[in-house]
Formats: sequence, C-alpha cells, structure tokens
Amino acid sequence: MADFDLTLRAKEFASKDPFPMKGFGPMEWYVGNAFMTAQAFRSLLGMSIIGYAGPETGSRDRASYLLKQDQMEFIVTGALDGDHEIAEHVKLHGPGVKDVSFYVPDATAAFEMAVQNGATPHREPEKIESDDGRMVISAIKAYGDTIHSLIELEGADPRFEVREDHIAKPTGLHAIDHVVANVELGKMNEWVEFYERIFCFTMLRHFDDEAISTEYTALMSKVMAGGNGIIKLPINEPAEGKKKSQIEEYLDYYKTPGVQHMALSTEDLQTTVADIHSRGIETIHVPSTYYPEAKERLSEYDHLDWDRIEELSILVDKDDDGYLLQTFTKMLQDRPTVFFEFIERRGATGFGVGNFQALFEAIEREQAKRGNL
Ligand SMILES: [Fe+2]
Repeated sequence: MADFDLTLRAKEFASKDPFPMKGFGPMEWYVGNAFMTAQAFRSLLGMSIIGYAGPETGSRDRASYLLKQDQMEFIVTGALDGDHEIAEHVKLHGPGVKDVSFYVPDATAAFEMAVQNGATPHREPEKIESDDGRMVISAIKAYGDTIHSLIELEGADPRFEVREDHIAKPTGLHAIDHVVANVELGKMNEWVEFYERIFCFTMLRHFDDEAISTEYTALMSKVMAGGNGIIKLPINEPAEGKKKSQIEEYLDYYKTPGVQHMALSTEDLQTTVADIHSRGIETIHVPSTYYPEAKERLSEYDHLDWDRIEELSILVDKDDDGYLLQTFTKMLQDRPTVFFEFIERRGATGFGVGNFQALFEAIEREQAKRGNL
C-alpha cells in the first residue's frame, strides 16, 4: 500500500515537469579539518558561516559548518574519529565534494521517482526538524563515491545550529552556475544516459576532442541540464592525446570519478577577481598573446575594459545569446583535484568554448610544473 501511495505521489510530482528541481542545494565537502576549511571559504570566498553541527549540538561523530553567500551554499564536514566513513573518504580522495545536492519540491516523491528510474538509493527519505526549520532529505548514488541529496526545505537547515556571521566580507559570488564531473575514459555516455534516465535531464551541449584539444592532451565533454535549465552538470572524460590529460591526472589523484570544478557566478567578475586575488586565491595565468585574438572575437562589445581584463587574466567568450567572462582558480588542496571557476554571464549560456584552447594550455602549464604531463 505504501508503495502504491508513493507511486501516485511520484506521478503527481512529475505531472508538469518530468523531474522538478528548484536549484542546487548545498555542496557538501568531506575534509580533514572542517573548522579550517570553513574559515578558508569564509576569508577567501567571502561566504558567511550560518550554521554549525558538532559534539556541542549533539552530533557525536562529525563537525560540520554550513556556509552561504546569497544563493550559494556549501557544507564542510570532518570526522571526529579516524575510522569514520568521512575520514576514509578523505584518506582515499583527499578533500573533495561528497554531495552535489538539489532542492526539490518533494524529496520523498523525487527519491521514489529516481529509484523507479533505476537510481541506487543512498539514503531513504528522512524528516528532520528544528525550532528554525524542517526538511525532508533523501539521496541517491552518483559517479564514484559522490551522491545526490534531494532536499525539501522550509526555513533554516535543521541539521545545523543557526549562527550569525559578523566577520565575512562578501566577494560578489552569488550562485552555483554549474558543477563538473570527471569520469573515466569511455564512461561519459553512460553518465549522460544516467542523468537522462534518472532525472529526465537533457543534453545541452556537446564538445568533442576536436574542440577541446591541445598539442598534448584532449578531453570530451557533454553538458546535462535539468530543473528548467537551472541545473547544469557537464561531464568530462579523457580522450587520447600524446600525453596525460588533466582528466587522467585528476583520476590518478582522486582515485575515482568525482567533482572537478564548480562554477560560481558573479555580476561583476573584475571586482570579484581583484578582491579574491587580494585575499590569497590565485587564478590561472593567461598569456598576453590571448588578448589580441579575444578583442577581435568580441569586437562588438566595445565597452569592455581590456586592460583590466588582461591585468586580471580573465577569459572572455561569446555565443548567440551574449558574452561571458570567466576565470579558474589554481588547486585549492594539495592534490590536483578540485578547483573553482568564477563566471559572469552577460546573456551567454555557453561554457567558454572559444577559450578552451587557451584554458587547457594554461592548465597544462600547471600540470607540467607538477611533473604530471
Ligand atoms: Fe566550467
């Protein structure tokens, strides 16, 4: 009987949109030291610490901080004991993104539907309440050790004791634009099919190794989109090249497929990047030879301040809908695994395909410095 009810509920859930999603939920990182990571995201990215869970709040096995800047939310979590599943995760992968979560209107129906579509359950729907909010949370397994939590939330996240942050100074980063997965050679299409089947996502774009190749390395990428386009999940796989691709380097160090980068959006990339540089985050170096060609390519946007764009090593691209500015951080942990992209969209809906050559050459220079090219 319960199954029958859930199926009806799932049918109603999907009556208008094949799999309704409201947006990205908090990205949960598993790290060695949640306190220090929370401090780093606060001081480097300008996020506010708005919640805490740990032994003082009844969480006996972990310490966890909830961070937020406008719509962009992270959770950083560390284990209190070495043989904990979180500690094992960090031992194998290094610090990394465990949970790429989504806000949904009904976390029970979403879970039911995902499982009916063939997803492997990770967490059965569970109701959590506090004085400040209530949620239903469920989760399914994704690539590697990554999961997708499906979160229905009213009020404040009840997993955390509410905190006020009077220290954080915002940097203008305000939302998660897209989250990119690296998967093994030959596996990209399996994961494309996974998102089509489980969440009814559609393929937004496709980049083959012709588009994304340098003298040495190549990769292929497909962008899956859902939630009426709010959710964008590019999936990369390595392609044959003369040398080791950046995707293979990632897989060597992360040990399994996982999140490679997440793009954080801002309304003013130049101000955000200048601010973030002053806080200690380095972004990739773009050679000066990139700019004459870029100016030519974007000549119709004559208001662009090219001196400042070049000074900040920002990349620029356009598509049929407008233009975008973007840059990429260097690695944020000791292993060459996860990094951030910062992006300002002025109409453009693409991913900077016109920059792939310059970008991958910049990434390879860093890879070569590590002795991994
Ligand atoms: Fe990206």
